[in-house]
Amino acid sequence: MSALPITIPKHRGHWLLKSTLEIISGPLKFYEQTSQALQTDTFYADVLTGKAIMTANPDLIKYVLQTNQKNYPKDSGYDQLALLLGKGLVTSRGALWRKQRRIAQPAFYKKSLQNLFEAMREVAEQYLKELESKAGSIVDISQEMMSVTARIAMKSLFGAEMKGNLLEIYNCISYAQAYTTGRIFNPMSIPFTYLNGKHRKFRKHKKVLDDLLGGLITERKKSAAKHHDFLQMLLDARYEDTGQPMEHRQLLDELVTIFSAGHETSANGMSFILYQLAQSPEVVDQLRAEAADIIGDRLPLFEDISQLQYTKQVIEEGMRLFPPVWTVGRYAKEADEWNGYQIEKNMVVVNYIYNLHRHPALWESPEIFDPTRFTPEKVKARPRTHYLPFGAGPRMCIGNHFAMMEMILLLPLLVRSFDFYLIDDGSLELEPLITLRPKNGIKMRVRATKA
Ligand code: HEM
Repeated sequence: MSALPITIPKHRGHWLLKSTLEIISGPLKFYEQTSQALQTDTFYADVLTGKAIMTANPDLIKYVLQTNQKNYPKDSGYDQLALLLGKGLVTSRGALWRKQRRIAQPAFYKKSLQNLFEAMREVAEQYLKELESKAGSIVDISQEMMSVTARIAMKSLFGAEMKGNLLEIYNCISYAQAYTTGRIFNPMSIPFTYLNGKHRKFRKHKKVLDDLLGGLITERKKSAAKHHDFLQMLLDARYEDTGQPMEHRQLLDELVTIFSAGHETSANGMSFILYQLAQSPEVVDQLRAEAADIIGDRLPLFEDISQLQYTKQVIEEGMRLFPPVWTVGRYAKEADEWNGYQIEKNMVVVNYIYNLHRHPALWESPEIFDPTRFTPEKVKARPRTHYLPFGAGPRMCIGNHFAMMEMILLLPLLVRSFDFYLIDDGSLELEPLITLRPKNGIKMRVRATKA
């Protein structure tokens, strides 16, 4: 990988609006066109709030997220996201984040995941039956995946069945994401959102989520039964310094965070993978062969998960092309220098994971879906920083093993029982909100394989 050019090139944009309009109308297109025009993977861009560095350079991304992470806290975009997630793990910083992460981490240790697996599998089994009843018809696969992952998160992490209308929850999260992304890309719009009803509508949606998850806390506090899930762990936790339990608001923020971050990402990941598979019959054949070999006709066991190597590769390659978290933002607390390049104080660094994963100097034929890129040998031979679907450094995803386990459980079950056919021309429009989503869903006809 060649070094960055001597001076980081700059994209100035419009004299008044800077790059804002281009970013609002398509942040991925903006990065692609600008990096091509400037012939670089890293450039400065003027935005309304100041200057930003946009990068898909693995060394700079590693430097910001890991090596010198202390100087690069999460940027103000996360404050907008906090409207939805409160002060939960994704959005908190400093001492609050550290103590919350310490409390939450054990829930994602291998032993705990093994305990959650049972509940995950139960939901997966139920869901397969539901999908069977839709066989022959056209479904929106992204809503389907949202429905199964939401129920998995509810059941395995909070010990609860999904109450309420799933479509309503889907719409709430969709609206909340579009709303907060709008505020992040175009901060000038914020005052208007209080006048044009958008903020009120957002509050209404947010309340649906708060009520749903707040209700679980109340119910659990009344329950005499013993539970061993994430919710119980947070309820039982006591802070080391004060010996006090978590306050209700903090607990609710953590649940909203874990529920949102913990199902929407995997759902989008799975939807894009099924989209790819509908166009890659030979990969489906291999997935089926592996499923037949390792799990046969039964349901997967926890021990099977680590054996499903090809399935894992398919998932990894799917998330290379369509990383559910397509960007992570940081800002420079103090002025800094990296490899001779100046990073001014308060400058935002936008790490483009999507473009890192399609970087032409890092990946051969990057647009091609090829799960053999993730054989153990190839993974070992490649710097880890070329592939960061779960981020890097101390703020790396806490749920990465949970998500992998969930997807490795679901994928063989789905391809074993169903064929998925894209409807229309199968064209896909991406919607890069907080997560990367298929803009108009993904319509597919589902057929039972045994039919
Ligand atoms: C395919 C699925 C997933 C992907 C691609 C993904 C990706 C990410 C990424 C890139 C980050 C880092 C953001 C940053 O540095 O700014 C992150 C953080 C986080 N993720 Fe995930 N995630 C997934 C699934 C999950 C699941 C299943 C859970 C929980 C059950 C979860 C909970 C979290 C939390 C709480 C954080 C914040 C961690 C912290 O800052 O301490 N994620 N995720």
